[in-house]
Amino acid sequence: MPGPTDGLLIERAAAVATLAGGLRRGLSQGETAVLSGGPLAVACWHERVLAAGPAGDVHRQIVAAGHSLDSFARVDAAGGLVTPGLIDAHTHLVFAGTREAEWQMRARGAGYLEILEAGGGILSTVAATRAASDADLLAGARSRLSEMLANGTTTAEAKSGYGLDVETELRELDMIGRLDREGPVQLVPTFLGAHAVPAEFRDRPDGVAEYVDAVIGEQLPAVARQGIARFCDVFCERGVFSAEQSARILGAARDAGLALRLHADELAPSGGAELAAEIGCASADHLAAPSDEGVAALARAAAGDRPVVATLLPATSWFLGKHHFAPARRFIDAGIPVALATDLNPGTSPTVSLPLVMSIACLEMGLTPAEALVAATINAAHSLGLGAEIGSIEPGKQADLVVWGVPSVDQLPYWLGARPARTVIKRGRVAFVRG
Ligand code: NIG
Ligand code: FE
Repeated sequence: MPGPTDGLLIERAAAVATLAGGLRRGLSQGETAVLSGGPLAVACWHERVLAAGPAGDVHRQIVAAGHSLDSFARVDAAGGLVTPGLIDAHTHLVFAGTREAEWQMRARGAGYLEILEAGGGILSTVAATRAASDADLLAGARSRLSEMLANGTTTAEAKSGYGLDVETELRELDMIGRLDREGPVQLVPTFLGAHAVPAEFRDRPDGVAEYVDAVIGEQLPAVARQGIARFCDVFCERGVFSAEQSARILGAARDAGLALRLHADELAPSGGAELAAEIGCASADHLAAPSDEGVAALARAAAGDRPVVATLLPATSWFLGKHHFAPARRFIDAGIPVALATDLNPGTSPTVSLPLVMSIACLEMGLTPAEALVAATINAAHSLGLGAEIGSIEPGKQADLVVWGVPSVDQLPYWLGARPARTVIKRGRVAFVRG
């Protein structure tokens, strides 16, 4: 592993998918801005990208910038593809326990919301998380993060939402901040107090309304005071939180200085897509069952100056045993920018792998490999408000890169379930090397 030198030079790449050029939608959803005709190189100086292109050009730019080639640590891409680090824009990273029994109940016909209604599902993870020590929660999250990194993820959004009380929501967000500082995977914290109504509110006649008041009146102010969340999210779904309740929570979150995202129309049309467009969410997630009006609202937002990224989570539909996936082609045709994420969580998507999610997106939603790569890099960056900083290989951007053991974008989601990341670089430093 190269030491902590100032410069890092990736050599002998067969292709570099730079993803340069900003947020993609419509026809540009599939434009990966690939440099080919190698051998190609990518140079990083400190934490930033310095240059990418044919090796000779990159060497000249290194010298022109006043650096000596000898002082650069080398990474041999050995004929592989280089891309920006993958960005997982929707995870429930911090949790305790597992839910394989519930998965088997679903296989025998039980519904996801039915299990939640009976006090299981999300609520069983809430009980386990409240009871777990910080040390255990951190150890679980760290092991998932190292697997994410090994699968090419260099930045991830991470939600609270398994606390559902002030103390545990703050604990979860605090741990996310701590894990971000530890690195190498960079984390974007999201407050999801409105993930479900906790047990202690469920037997009250107005329990849901009272819990919404508690999220707005107690949890959100505490989170905002501590400055430990960048986004606020709500599980807007028929039978969980209505569009009206979600609007109240997100409105209060915006007033408190948080940016917005939304679990929208995962299982049934629930007004989530419409709300995300109207209130100006950075991202509307899931969207497996949007209404026609919801798609139209997202299309109008995309045509205007406040596009809402449709962050699709096909591993979740798959793991829930659904044969119905988000209408990704319809979104792309309507000019709506599409991102992909794992939704990593113990109930509906126990996977850390964005390459696997990209494969499912190609197989079940008809994305091309190029569209899937755009969705897991630059569009995901934009959904997190980080499009100027990460998500593409351009001079000046943060040097988050993956060298893959495959030579082309098309082969990335093709090797089903493979672990194709060979070397992962975060902020200009080698953070993972496949043994
Ligand atoms: O995005 N749908 C709500 N939240 C998660 C699942 C969380 C859980 O079941 O623990 C999701 O699928
Ligand atoms: Fe989720």
